[in-house]
Amino acid sequence: MDNFTLNIPTKIFFGRNQIKVLGRQIEKYGATRVLICYGSKRIKREGLFQTITDKLTDRGLFYTELGGIEPNPRITSVREGVRICREENIDFILAVGGGSVIDCAKAIAGSVNYEGDPWDFFLRKAAINKAIPIGTVLTLAATGSESNGNAVVSNIETQQKLAVYSPILWPKFSVLDPEYTYSVPPFHTAAGIADIMSHIFEQYFSPTPDTFTQDRLAEALLKTCLKYAPIVMEKPNDYTARAEILWAGNLALNTLLSLGREGDWANHSIEHEVSALFDISHGAGLAILFPNWMKYVMDDNNTDKFYNLAVNVFGVAESADKKAAALEGIDRLRTFYNSVGLPARLSETGVEEDSLRKMAEGAVRFGEIGEFKKLKSKDVLAILKMAY
Ligand code: NZQ
Ligand code: ZN
Repeated sequence: MDNFTLNIPTKIFFGRNQIKVLGRQIEKYGATRVLICYGSKRIKREGLFQTITDKLTDRGLFYTELGGIEPNPRITSVREGVRICREENIDFILAVGGGSVIDCAKAIAGSVNYEGDPWDFFLRKAAINKAIPIGTVLTLAATGSESNGNAVVSNIETQQKLAVYSPILWPKFSVLDPEYTYSVPPFHTAAGIADIMSHIFEQYFSPTPDTFTQDRLAEALLKTCLKYAPIVMEKPNDYTARAEILWAGNLALNTLLSLGREGDWANHSIEHEVSALFDISHGAGLAILFPNWMKYVMDDNNTDKFYNLAVNVFGVAESADKKAAALEGIDRLRTFYNSVGLPARLSETGVEEDSLRKMAEGAVRFGEIGEFKKLKSKDVLAILKMAY
């Protein structure tokens, strides 16, 4: 286990009716002028927008809005948000939605005080060192963006989807009410669960030795996903199941699992290339890629890790033939994704085969990817072909 510092700065308000804290939380940061960011008009139809604005108005807080933020949010929305913030002297951003809305809000928050174009941060031409505070009201269990400093944004003109990280982009607080996730349709529920599981895999498959506690924590969260996924798919309004998934999603990417070890993150780099070109759902892309990556990188030196996953999480019987058991575990992962309605092949999602090479090159634009197994462009291409 490596040295680490545990610092999870986002305050989480978890459970029914925790929205009651909203006004007071915003005021804590001395803010009086709020930009509410959201995606479709769904939050207006469902009444959540009204609930939120009532809370702000009750405390005399000014608000304005930026709606229409796309799934796989675009840099054009970030620019529009920056314009509104400057024009309206916004001093707090409230993101209401899933990872896309939250990421867009973070990028806006980090760009308001920057004179150049926000895309510079994603191209690593500049670093975010000043941001206005943000808070979130999460409506989809998936990315963990509600308590981390990452933002992933797409640029349609350049056909790129890139990530930025800054410690000052962590939301100040996040409201996680499982009831707000009841309305998530089956496909996005399943894709969110695949994203959560992928975050766990990215940290579980680590080159760092001696991570027993971290590995068992990761396995527990994976088991939560396997246990509650069929329940939320069948009964979307099951509070307990939604709550378990929501909490697992938060723990999967709030840095807890990353402590004391390096993560891999190759699958995320590859998936971002896929969704940059074809705008597919991030979680669905990961569900296609991960089993193929597992088969590609498993070798005689790392079979134990896959064997532990198979036995401890997927219930494969212990066996002297560790490789066979490990492969059975990977097959069970594939079967699980099929069972919740996720696609198994890139060809099912509209991805065109002649784009695979471009994706493979894009994935390694900043150098080799992966820490558990380092991948060059040729390796990425091989994985994409297996997944096609
Ligand atoms: O526009 P709305 O109405 O919000 O619709 C969304 C969207 O169409 C819908 N939805 C969300 N909550 C709902 C709901 N529909 C009904 N009822 C609800 N309660 O679901 C659709 C997908 O939403 P989106 O926010 O795009 O999904 P997700 O949370 O999976 O976010 C995906 C984005 O996050 C990035 C991904 O790359 C992708 O761009 N990621 C961000 C990360 C981070 N910041 O740490 C890490 C991840 O690995 C990921 O890369
Ligand atoms: Zn992800």
